[in-house]
Amino acid sequence: MNIYFAPMEGVTDAIFRRVHRRHFDGVDKYFMPFISPTKSMTFTRREQFDMSPEQNAGMPVVPQILCNSAASFNALAVLLRDMGYKELNLNLGCPSGTVTAKGKGSGLLRAPDKLRELLDGIFTQPVLPISIKTRIGYESVEEWPRLLALLRDYPMSELIIHPRTRQEFYNGMPHREACELIAFPFLYNGDIFSLSDYQALTEKYPRVSGVMLGRGLVANPALGRKLRGGAELTMEELRSFHDDLYTEYLHYWPESAVVGRMHLIMKYFCSCFEETGSVRRMLRKARSVAEYDEAVYRLFHECGLKKEPVFDVDILLGRDQRT
Ligand SMILES: Cc1cc2nc3c(=O)[nH]c(=O)nc-3n(C[C@H](O)[C@H](O)[C@H](O)COP(=O)(O)O)c2cc1C
Repeated sequence: MNIYFAPMEGVTDAIFRRVHRRHFDGVDKYFMPFISPTKSMTFTRREQFDMSPEQNAGMPVVPQILCNSAASFNALAVLLRDMGYKELNLNLGCPSGTVTAKGKGSGLLRAPDKLRELLDGIFTQPVLPISIKTRIGYESVEEWPRLLALLRDYPMSELIIHPRTRQEFYNGMPHREACELIAFPFLYNGDIFSLSDYQALTEKYPRVSGVMLGRGLVANPALGRKLRGGAELTMEELRSFHDDLYTEYLHYWPESAVVGRMHLIMKYFCSCFEETGSVRRMLRKARSVAEYDEAVYRLFHECGLKKEPVFDVDILLGRDQRT
């Protein structure tokens, strides 16, 4: 069974991926947050850093492309191949309004002709194997059978499904029954936060050849290992991963940016701890490295680790009653 790290823009950047791999095994591939090519092939600083071969040396990493033009996709594919990448992923899932308004990401799911044109153009003579990450529709789950039939016409290396529609963003339960329609091995993504989630999924849908983990793996960086029958996360491991990540960010970024990023990551990590109420408030209010360091010290010294850490969306969104 394959276990992949999902792309998460603003979270799983090159530094995060590299440090994660140094500390935890159990992940077969890391998917990069999307790169969105322009006609002139100019890239944001974030994109340049994230795809640079130096930052990804020795990593099993898959660049993800977000676009609706075969010419742009193919031009970027050549660039990425020349940088040494071995495969690519097409994003048909991004639900953001600014992306879908331009007919990209899940915006392509409501324009089957445009989607077919793009797929015809990228699969005619691909320079690298291409996998696809998709939602199951734009407006409604009823679009899935036709969308799946369309996708089946193309020789993608892997299909990764997130069984929600664009309109659902990340709300509600994933429509796992969409898996029943897929008659070939595929990768599943969505709300796998624990070993029992994983077992329930793979027992029910035997054609699942692997899972892509996002929020659950950020919250519990040992989740990949755990799903493979390995040990539970320990406090020492989490502390060591945190410290290494923090040190790397401080090496590359200004302090205020580091505190902002660590603040976000700690919201996920807080799912691993039993009681974090007042410490979480301290973390949230930390504006300087000194304030952040004090809050982190308290978190690791005063709060116990849960027996089985599970990602908690209420903690992430600040809806937890205890804060
Ligand atoms: C903050 C954030 C950023 C994301 N960025 C991307 C992205 O760049 N490309 C992509 O395909 N999906 C992106 N996603 C979606 C995730 O890859 C994944 O599909 C989603 O989190 C559901 O999986 P999970 O329940 O395991 O977290 C993002 C999700 C989040 C929460």
